[in-house]
Amino acid sequence: MIALDEVDSTNSFLRHLDTSGDQRLTLATAEFQSAGRGAGTNRWESARGENLLFSLHMMPGNLPVRRMFAISEVTALALKESFDSFSLPLQGRGGLSAAAPFTPPLEEEGETTIKWPNDIYFEDSKVAGMLIENDLQGALVQRSIIGIGINVNQRRFVSDAPNPRSLADIVGHDVDRRLVLERFMERFMNYMPTLDASKLDALDALHNRYKSCLYRFGEEHEFVDEMGVFCARIIDVEQSGHLVLQDKAGSLRRYEFKEVKFRI
Ligand code: BTN
Repeated sequence: MIALDEVDSTNSFLRHLDTSGDQRLTLATAEFQSAGRGAGTNRWESARGENLLFSLHMMPGNLPVRRMFAISEVTALALKESFDSFSLPLQGRGGLSAAAPFTPPLEEEGETTIKWPNDIYFEDSKVAGMLIENDLQGALVQRSIIGIGINVNQRRFVSDAPNPRSLADIVGHDVDRRLVLERFMERFMNYMPTLDASKLDALDALHNRYKSCLYRFGEEHEFVDEMGVFCARIIDVEQSGHLVLQDKAGSLRRYEFKEVKFRI
């Protein structure tokens, strides 16, 4: 584990660190990123010392490129489960019903969802995002740098990031960043052995679990693609990570990341 005060981007830092052939998991955290990167060409906003900014370097060993979306699934599920262990208040009630952190989650409490492909949402707001950069070697994923930004204690966001919200705003009090990271790492490491082609059943189970946690799954909502706005429901996410929508006319539409947007 490498704890940095300031860096351009923890993803870029790990990319340039000499970890060649290192099978261990390396974690780099930062208090502040001067050039934090979001998905695509976006930047990632995070006030100094208020949130969690970190990247993991790992070499999955035996994960075929055609199943590399499983890295997103593992990371998203580990984030979702760690957040849900915080006893989030009931959906719709806002962030004022302060629940004590780290009490066991109750059934009637709110849950986070995974907004395809890999944002973590509470209600209609984004709590965490990830930027995964994979290096491929032949048909296998040689290494993966998984960058994660979690909105923990920041209350005001100034960039045009879509719908940001922090855990603190949801539960109504500041949250211990260390505990959030610990809880995430515990779950992530539990899931890691599933990233192995020799365990196809585990990969399939992971995929089904991911799908069962999706934001707006099966509900009719508006989406936007290059042709414009349309109404559709999510009916599937393929193992490759493609999103499958069914529009009102009954036609299936299949998208790669960035080819379609949710209207929220
Ligand atoms: C997104 O949802 O747009 C992805 C956000 C990923 C942000 C994290 S913060 C730590 C790591 N370093 C970066 O430069 N980006 C990721």
